[in-house]
Amino acid sequence: MSYTDTKQKQEERSVQELNFQFNDMLNTEHPELILKEAQPFLDLMMEYQCALMEVETKLKVLNEEFASKYQRNPFESIKSRIKEPLSIINKMKRKSFPLSVESMEKNLFDIAGIRVICSFCDDIYAIAELLTKQDDIILVEVKDYIKNPKPNGYRSLHLILDIPIFLSSGKKHMKVEVQFRTIAMDFWASLEHKVKYKKDVEHPEDIVAELKECADVISAMDCRMQEIRNKIEGNI
Ligand code: GTP
Ligand code: MG
Repeated sequence: MSYTDTKQKQEERSVQELNFQFNDMLNTEHPELILKEAQPFLDLMMEYQCALMEVETKLKVLNEEFASKYQRNPFESIKSRIKEPLSIINKMKRKSFPLSVESMEKNLFDIAGIRVICSFCDDIYAIAELLTKQDDIILVEVKDYIKNPKPNGYRSLHLILDIPIFLSSGKKHMKVEVQFRTIAMDFWASLEHKVKYKKDVEHPEDIVAELKECADVISAMDCRMQEIRNKIEGNI
């Protein structure tokens, strides 16, 4: 699964190209040995899936509590995904990491990813704070692209969390990337992503400037909506 379809389609094409070679590989006397070799990778993916379930449950608990205490849901949606095997391999190659299951776990922190879309900017910081102060979570890294947007206008709060999962063999610490955005930030990022993936070339300067301007307009709108909410809440 992927956050977006476009990337998935690109990867499906690559998979089709690889299929032929894989069929050749399986056409040996002991194809089960090849499948056995893949088991550590499949186990790791299962563990990331468990870590996603843990973080998602924590977020849903906070959402329920907000709904009960303040009669509103801070989240518009929560989406989670495990990085596609080919995306993992491409990233490892791009960053020149050794190609092994151990190296994936050691070097990539976004194999398990959750995207939380919040109604208002203040909710992002409130929920991120409530999540990261839980005593079984270790905050590994924060990238605050809301306070410090990327030069292209991208805004989101990215957290890398370390969270334990409990397997029959014992406790294991896993990394999960959580991206928090408002609806407005997600609107821009989704469309910018689509524009980017349509053509795999550098954007001309005027397109870059126009996308940045759109991001700033959207962000100003976000702030106004937050101010309106603050006024209404202050008046109650
Ligand atoms: P990668 O994880 O390899 O992408 O590098 P990084 O760790 O430096 O990236 P970063 O944490 O800044 O961003 C990771 C993720 O955020 C990406 O995979 C996207 O989902 C999202 N993201 C970051 N920058 C942009 C951007 O400019 N546009 C859009 N649409 N999404 C972005
Ligand atoms: Mg990253």
